[in-house]
Amino acid sequence: MKTWLGKFKSITLLGLLTIVLAGCGKENLTALSPKGGSADTSLYLIILTTIVMSLVFLAVVIPFIIVLFRFRKKKGDAEFIPEQVEGNQKLETIWTIIPIILVVIMAVPTVLATFELADDADAAEHINIDVTGNQYWWHFDYQDEEIATSQDMYIPTDTKVYVNLITSDVLHSFWVPTLAGKMDVNPENVNTMYMDAEEEGVYFGKCAELCGPSHSLMDFKVVAVSEDDYETWVTDMQDFDSEEVELDAVATEGKELFDDKNCLSCHATDNQNYQEGSVPVGPDLTSFADRSRFAGILLPTKENLVDWIVDPESIKPGNKMTGAYEATSEEEAEKIAEYLMQLSPSDVTAESVDTEVLSSDEEK
Ligand code: CUA
Repeated sequence: MKTWLGKFKSITLLGLLTIVLAGCGKENLTALSPKGGSADTSLYLIILTTIVMSLVFLAVVIPFIIVLFRFRKKKGDAEFIPEQVEGNQKLETIWTIIPIILVVIMAVPTVLATFELADDADAAEHINIDVTGNQYWWHFDYQDEEIATSQDMYIPTDTKVYVNLITSDVLHSFWVPTLAGKMDVNPENVNTMYMDAEEEGVYFGKCAELCGPSHSLMDFKVVAVSEDDYETWVTDMQDFDSEEVELDAVATEGKELFDDKNCLSCHATDNQNYQEGSVPVGPDLTSFADRSRFAGILLPTKENLVDWIVDPESIKPGNKMTGAYEATSEEEAEKIAEYLMQLSPSDVTAESVDTEVLSSDEEK
């Protein structure tokens, strides 16, 4: 018994690891607990194909194991060669037809779902967000509302939201597993998909295409709020004027440094980035203080922001901010950070729908 166990030690270990590691992962970063119609469809297809595959697996493996043990040559058995048979038309026909039926069972719902999810005929009646992938951050452009955000994409619940995806540089892939499937982000053609959130919440988004050294840090969030809150957020964003924010002495110095160092040549602080066709060089900072993360993964604390401004390369290798501005001391960075932390157009934020979102630093 002991040797038998020993032989299967690696398999047992692998099995245990599978069970334990299956517990890893994050809520709202999984396709297995969908919170939107589009993701529901994906889960249904995952379950259907898993059931069909499991049946095939069992139908092959069970007879194989039975034959292996039952008909093996035992000690003392005489040497003999079993009767040789060649072809059996009935069996051949059966095991040709069965896989064809199984493929049809999987293909029909998959093709139907693919067409359903790709259908954008009603896009004009819904919210449209132009999304631009950049190394390594996401730009969200609300054309009709004339506002823009980076990092956090706000949507209302219970309605279809269309995202029109394009990249300013290399290939990326837009993926919010809890809300919808994955879509390639290409440089020339706009790919469109929709998502809908059934519940308010902050949903984790990832870039799912290897796009450079900081690919794994190219995270974003979808902030789903009630329709009323969404309206409030849009109005707050539209009404926001960063010039009118009351700043204390330190933040005022920070704003001056921000202007002197030409930060505005890459970053907007007043929604200027929504204009059609204009691809901003750096993330929009209009709602910086309301963000759930910055630089993809960092919590928006002053300390993190100072580290980032002083040496972005150490946090996000290959980012385009490195070297794009003159060296900044910690003291200067603190002042700039103080200023940016005042850019808060709305009370509707990721934190207002998920109070935990700012307390977890698991991504850092
Ligand atoms: Cu963008 Cu990976």
